[in-house]
Amino acid sequence: MRLLILGGTKNLGRHVAEAALAAGHELTLFNRGRTNPTLFPEAIHLQGERSAPDALASGEWDAVIDMSGFLVHDLRRSAELLRDRVGHYTFMSSIAVYASRTTPGMTEDAPQLAWPDGAPEDEFTMDLYGPSKARAEALLAETFGERTTAVRSGFVVGPYNPDFGNWGEALAAGKPLECAARPGQPIQYLDARDLAAFLLRVTVDGRGGAFNAVSESTTMAELAEAWRSVVPGSPPVDWEPAVDRFHLPHDGSNDGTFLLDNSRALAAGLAVRPAAESARACMEWIQAGNTPPPPPH
Ligand SMILES: NC(=O)c1ccc[n+]([C@@H]2O[C@H](COP(=O)([O-])OP(=O)(O)OC[C@H]3O[C@@H](n4cnc5c(N)ncnc54)[C@H](OP(=O)(O)O)[C@@H]3O)[C@@H](O)[C@H]2O)c1
Repeated sequence: MRLLILGGTKNLGRHVAEAALAAGHELTLFNRGRTNPTLFPEAIHLQGERSAPDALASGEWDAVIDMSGFLVHDLRRSAELLRDRVGHYTFMSSIAVYASRTTPGMTEDAPQLAWPDGAPEDEFTMDLYGPSKARAEALLAETFGERTTAVRSGFVVGPYNPDFGNWGEALAAGKPLECAARPGQPIQYLDARDLAAFLLRVTVDGRGGAFNAVSESTTMAELAEAWRSVVPGSPPVDWEPAVDRFHLPHDGSNDGTFLLDNSRALAAGLAVRPAAESARACMEWIQAGNTPPPPPH
């Protein structure tokens, strides 16, 4: 397939690009050429800004996977430009779109955050992250109808991606996993490689709609045990570390965000590898001399 990736060279997107090339797709990457510019020499490289993507003004693709869409203004621009020249538009969205943070078992149809009156469509602020993703999804659905997919993820771990705070580094150094959340805190996540495979799968299948691309819900204590199991004799988890890298409220007021219903994604082919496999990959990647990036928004 002739596949266009908007982004594709940093944390998550590079796994999508790798998977696309491995599957034999003809790959075009659109970005500013600043992040890891020497990656993927076998792909076609188009350079430009999301806000003024002149390089996308010509060309045809069977599908696009949009990994770098944050601003409504930019999404509107690429949707207009690509509407009649791409078959399918897959958008990397987020579990931050949901209006409730407490309701357990939310499906993809749960109410989403509203767009605040008068908010700027061309400036990024953290409080607009969820509303922007929701508005972008709606805009793409209006433009592409069933030819668009929104893949919603939250915590993503794996090589080139942040892991849970210091967990990969801790395993690599024989130190305690630091976890400022409560042991019973519900948590869902996804390995970046499983996310990449799913993004590609729904795109190739042309499967429209939204998907909660997250693991089954577990607890922080269970997840930490799965990670610790990779290094026998790993020290106990530090539940009260000096640094809180999770920023999760301890009163349960964000639990619904990690109790999402993922059955639609599973039915569409989402495969979630065991937590210990992700843990081992993160640890080995760090042992190979790499440093995880800071947590994303
Ligand atoms: N935990 C998570 O990481 C998580 C969870 C849920 C959703 N997401 C979503 O996943 C996506 C981010 O993944 P990623 O950063 O790993 O993707 P990526 O595709 O690997 O990296 C971002 C890409 O966008 C390009 N880019 C950045 N700003 C640009 C601009 N103004 N104009 C053109 N290109 C630009 C970068 O290249 P240049 O710098 O060279 O331009 C880079 O190739 C986002 O949509 C985010 O909301 C992430």
